Parts: sequence; structure tokens; C-alpha cells
Amino acid sequence: MRLGGAVAFHDLAPRLESFRASVLEGLSRPRKSVPCRFLYDERGSDLFEAICETPEYYPTRAELGILAERAGEIAALIGRDAKLIEFGSGAGRKVKLLLHALNRPRAYVGIDVSREILLRATDDLSLDFPELSVAAICADFLAPIELPYEVTRGPGRGIAFFPGSSIGNFTPTEAQRFLANCRRMVGAGGVMLVGVDLKKDQARLDAAYNDAAGITAAFTLNLLERMNRELDAVFVIERFAHHAKYDPAVGRVAIHIRSLVEQTVRVAGRSFRFAAGEGIHTEDSWKYTVGDFQNLARDAGYRALACWTDAEQLFSVHYLTTDGGRPTTD
Ligand code: TRP
Repeated sequence: MRLGGAVAFHDLAPRLESFRASVLEGLSRPRKSVPCRFLYDERGSDLFEAICETPEYYPTRAELGILAERAGEIAALIGRDAKLIEFGSGAGRKVKLLLHALNRPRAYVGIDVSREILLRATDDLSLDFPELSVAAICADFLAPIELPYEVTRGPGRGIAFFPGSSIGNFTPTEAQRFLANCRRMVGAGGVMLVGVDLKKDQARLDAAYNDAAGITAAFTLNLLERMNRELDAVFVIERFAHHAKYDPAVGRVAIHIRSLVEQTVRVAGRSFRFAAGEGIHTEDSWKYTVGDFQNLARDAGYRALACWTDAEQLFSVHYLTTDGGRPTTD
């Protein structure tokens, strides 16, 4: 990869050893699961970008539309000298809309588990915004992260930016804990700008996670291919299928890899038995109403200052401030 910008890179990526340990532990459980961060290797991240282009997956377009329409308003609320920290920065298209609208943004830190996409995107930003101090942290943002000096130093307001409804991939309890951690990270006067997918009819949600071209299926099943590539696993991909379904009573899309037949598979020197129809849970995507999410944010100690949605009420972007919410109990 040829990089021309000036990006400070901090590599805290989970190592192969942690992939192996997580997989062996997750497949040994009565309800098999593998943590979702392992979906995003280089191929997984490319497939995820392709999901965002499918006609069924509306969240990316809806959120980009809201940000494009409201960038001026958001920038005015944030004010000058912003220091942005983006979680799950991916290809970095959304933050560009903000950076173009902001008055003299000072620093940008992208945090993502996918090293190649992160380096490409932050390099691109540092070339586009030569005045901006740019850092990249390759890490799983579930664990608390020490922010680099470029961000903590000097005046300016800490802005956590968490787009893509990735917050919906946490359980509500984890989401609240994550928000509370960010609140400490951005400090007094800080802001949390977060994209949240909204509850809606089941057909629309089921379609979004089961696109007709099968890109979402390829994305989910890439986890098996990654285990074959990296952990000497011998999954026969055709004997498994992607399965995603919205449960309106819970407000969550549950995503599994389903074994189509009864089979035993070797992974990293161990054998795992699958019953026909048994799943490996890979990810959940929780959906919220605007009110549900504002309550969760208040419980995490924020004030819900503003919320924008698209005309179809598909998606929401919340502007939360660290002052004035309900006191936290932790
Ligand atoms: N943050 C995305 C979401 O919840 C992640 C996602 C989209 C996803 N499609 C997926 C995860 C399919 C697993 C499988 O919408």
C-alpha cells in the first residue's frame, strides 16, 4: 500500500492468537457464537462496503443523506476547534461531510479493526485536510482505548462520532456502558454524535439483512472462509447458510451462520459437532425508536440535545452532550 499523508498510526489490533482463542471458546458454548469484530478482515470489510451499496440496505444512504442535509447545523452546534474521534471509521465518507462543514477542525482519530481500510481512509483524509492532525488506531473499540496525545493536548472540543448504527451491534446494556465510557473520553463539554437505525416494519428490515444479490450472505459466510484461511479449519461453505431475521418483540435483527446438515468440522485441531439447523451467532443489530435511544443516552449521563431523521423515518442521528444528563450510577 502506498501512503502519502502524515498519519500517526497506533496498532492495537487483535492478533491471530486472539482470533483462535475466541473462535475455540465461542464454538465450545452450548449456543455457538463468534464475536462480530472478526467479520471485518480485509475481505469482510470490502464486502461490508458492498452491502452498503445494495438497494435493500438503506441505513448508509439514509445516514449520509441526514449528514449532508444537516452538516451546517451540526457544525454550528459543535463550533470551532473540534477534535473528532470516530469509532468504526470504515471508508471515512461520512466524516468528510462533517470535516468540510466544520470551522477549523483540529484533530481526527479514526478507530477501526480493519487495518487496510483504516490506513487508506485516514491517509486520504490527511491529504484532503492538510491542516488536520490525523491519527489512526487499529483496535476493537469494545475495550477502553487510550487516546493519542494529538487529541488530548491543547484546546478544542472532543467529539465522538459513531456512525453506521454500529451502536446497535451492542446489546442495550453494552451500548449504555460504551456511551458512558465515551463520555469520560471526550470530557467536559464533549459531544457524542451517533447514528441509530430506527424500528420499522419487519419486511423492510429482513430485506436489508438478506439482500437479493447475496452480498450479505457472502459477508457472513466469509467468517467461515477466514477460519479456513487462518485457523486451519475445514468448513465446507456450501453446507452452511446466512440467516438474519428481525424479531419485532425484541427490536433486534439476529444474524447467524446456519448449518444445513448434521456435521462435524475440525477447527484449529479440535472437532465441533453441528446439528442440522444449528447456528453460529455472529451479530445482532438492535433497533430503537428516537425516544428509546434518548432514554438510553440519558441513562448513560448525556443530554439529548438534538436528533435528526430522514423523511421516511428510517434512520436517526443523535447529538448528545456530556453536560446535564441524569447522573450515572456507576
Ligand atoms: N452495523 C451494521 C448494522 O447493524 C452491521 C451489519 C450490516 C451487518 N449488515 C450486516 C452485520 C450483516 C452482520 C451481517 O446494520
